[in-house]
Amino acid sequence: MKTPGSMLLFACTLFAVAGIGSCAALDCYDCSFPASNCGDPFDPAGVTPMACPSGNVCTAQNSSSGGTEVFSRGCTEADSCTTGCVTSEGVTSCSYCCNEDRCNSRSIADAVADILHCYYCTYKSASNFSSPACNDPFNPNGDGVVQYPCADGQCGVLTTNHTGQSTLSRLCISDSTSPRGCTPGCDALGITCQTCCSENLCNVGLAATPSTTKPSAATPTVGGGKASLAAISLVSAGLLVVLR
Ligand SMILES: *[C@@H]1O[C@H](CO)[C@@H](O)[C@H](O)[C@H]1NC(C)=O
Ligand SMILES: *[C@@H]1O[C@H](CO)[C@@H](O)[C@H](O)[C@H]1NC(C)=O
Ligand SMILES: *[C@@H]1O[C@H](CO)[C@@H](O)[C@H](O)[C@H]1NC(C)=O
Repeated sequence: MKTPGSMLLFACTLFAVAGIGSCAALDCYDCSFPASNCGDPFDPAGVTPMACPSGNVCTAQNSSSGGTEVFSRGCTEADSCTTGCVTSEGVTSCSYCCNEDRCNSRSIADAVADILHCYYCTYKSASNFSSPACNDPFNPNGDGVVQYPCADGQCGVLTTNHTGQSTLSRLCISDSTSPRGCTPGCDALGITCQTCCSENLCNVGLAATPSTTKPSAATPTVGGGKASLAAISLVSAGLLVVLR
């Protein structure tokens, strides 16, 4: 998966190969609020930058502790850093990653303002491990529905209906795992259908249905199915991150 973090790491590796040493010892502001003045807007006066281990990037994040907004700024591994916000059970935590000395002075709200976010959830008929709130009628505040950043794709609603089992997933369909990006419509057999949209939290509706959408002749069933599975496993990975 191409995350901003892994791209930063990739850039870092290139720099390292080229002998530009800036990645090896990135300086990042290191603080946590309310212990110091670490919040948004950030005031660097009195905050000492720290030298990060090689392969790290700077980060800033906010979260909730006992109903109070808390901030932290520091170094983090490029691979585990995602820019955007996760909303779960009514609490929104945001973070960003950046790759220049002391770049984590930037306001978190500004850094995440233009990131696309999608609803993530899955409803499965005949399964106890599913979120009824995800189904029609969709309840964005219901159990098991989270909001997650979608760095390189579109928000989607994906349904499958096969051998009496139906599933409905709301997710980010990533350009890096779905070969042609999110392709609206149904496969030729009408088993898998999806809709795509690019506005923040737009994947609230129902997916296309086989009866209302003509199958796209150019879409091979197998390719679509594989892409959908990849997308679903991405959601699972995303949820794992949320639950950690
Ligand atoms: C974190 O920052 C975002 C963006 O400013 C805000 O919407 C969110 O409510 C904040 N989270 C907490 C727990 O205060
Ligand atoms: C699912 O729930 C039903 C009743 O709510 C229960 O009988 C069944 O054992 C559960 N199945 C699993 C796998 O937990
Ligand atoms: C799944 O397909 C069956 C017929 O194959 C249909 O009766 C049923 O309504 C469909 N379910 C959904 C959720 O689309």
